[in-house]
Amino acid sequence: MRVISIVGARPQFVKLAPFSRELRKYHEETIIHTGQHYDTNMSELFFKQLDIPEPDINLHIGSGGHGAQTGKMLSALEEQFINLSPDAVVVFGDTNSTLAGALAASKLHIPCIHIEAGLRSFNRLMPEEINRVVADHTCDLLMAPTRTGMNNLCNEGLEQCSIFTGDIMVDAVQYLADKAEHESRILEKNGLQEKSYYLLTLHRPSNVDNAEQLRYILAQLENLDQPVIFPVHPRTRRFLPESVENIQFIDPVGYIDIISLQRNALKVITDSGGMQKEAYVLGTPCITLRKETEWVETVEAGWNLLLNPAGDILCKQIQSFSANGKQPDIFGNDVAARMVKELGRIESVPSRRVIINVKEDYAKPSF
Ligand code: UD1
Repeated sequence: MRVISIVGARPQFVKLAPFSRELRKYHEETIIHTGQHYDTNMSELFFKQLDIPEPDINLHIGSGGHGAQTGKMLSALEEQFINLSPDAVVVFGDTNSTLAGALAASKLHIPCIHIEAGLRSFNRLMPEEINRVVADHTCDLLMAPTRTGMNNLCNEGLEQCSIFTGDIMVDAVQYLADKAEHESRILEKNGLQEKSYYLLTLHRPSNVDNAEQLRYILAQLENLDQPVIFPVHPRTRRFLPESVENIQFIDPVGYIDIISLQRNALKVITDSGGMQKEAYVLGTPCITLRKETEWVETVEAGWNLLLNPAGDILCKQIQSFSANGKQPDIFGNDVAARMVKELGRIESVPSRRVIINVKEDYAKPSF
């Protein structure tokens, strides 16, 4: 098959890495980068560290309002899809690049696969929630990373085209975990000791697009009992104060360094979806500064604590949270291999909406 993979933002590069490696053993792949993320340490560095082939096409769309950014992507992707006439398009996650890829492919009747399907926060104020719902209802083959994701798809009547595959991010973490252990110098570089610091990341609009909310969170975390290291996402810079006692601001880091920072942290404090999973896989307790999460299994397992970022005793709750219980296997293993095997389902299908009976697979756990 000739497959086009669409990526644009940091978490998608991480998912693309293991998928692309496996896909290229059996199929022909073209990578299109929308250019949503363009800074070297938000994009190029990830391609390098995760050994992802250079994108064949970069659309250089860059930043903009949601409508403008998605609209430009939609129009540019449509042109590429018409030129390249692929057998299938693959989109990942929930960004504006995912939405544009799914819409452009479905309008051209090109079979489209959504990796990391079925996640729901049930909060339509999140731009990602809209992107997920639209991608799931326009794509033809939906690959769910968790049982909860699969249940959500079934509840929305999408069971016939959905498969429970496990989470591909696990493959990426495992690929780089040893390398991170041996090659990362991020702890020394920032004067950090193993298990004696908190790792903080924030980039959700609800936490960082409002100066008062962002400053409130930082003022709470300033009182933590150990130092905090905070790689700052470009979006978060706008309302960031000059400095905060006990919190060290650094530029965004590459994947090897973020894995090392997560593995060695006492606790991870974040509003990122990917880091809730990575912290779990690396065995570090996580505190999620949001009112809801898509990764409910990590909360149920006792390794992820959801805290309302507007709450008033953040510091105390973070310090007293411990997660030493057993870790059930939530995300699976060798997920890329399973995904690429399942891609074949789409090959013989002439047009959308593809009806693929995968009920049987759902009944059988894959791990
Ligand atoms: C996007 C995704 C989000 C994902 C996140 C990961 C959407 C709606 N959101 O959010 O789901 O979790 O990526 O990082 O697609 N910027 C730079 N340099 C860059 C990239 C962005 O300076 O390389 C700046 C932009 O100018 C903009 C801001 O960061 O002001 C936000 O970038 P954008 O891609 O719109 O969304 P994210 O907040 O990164």
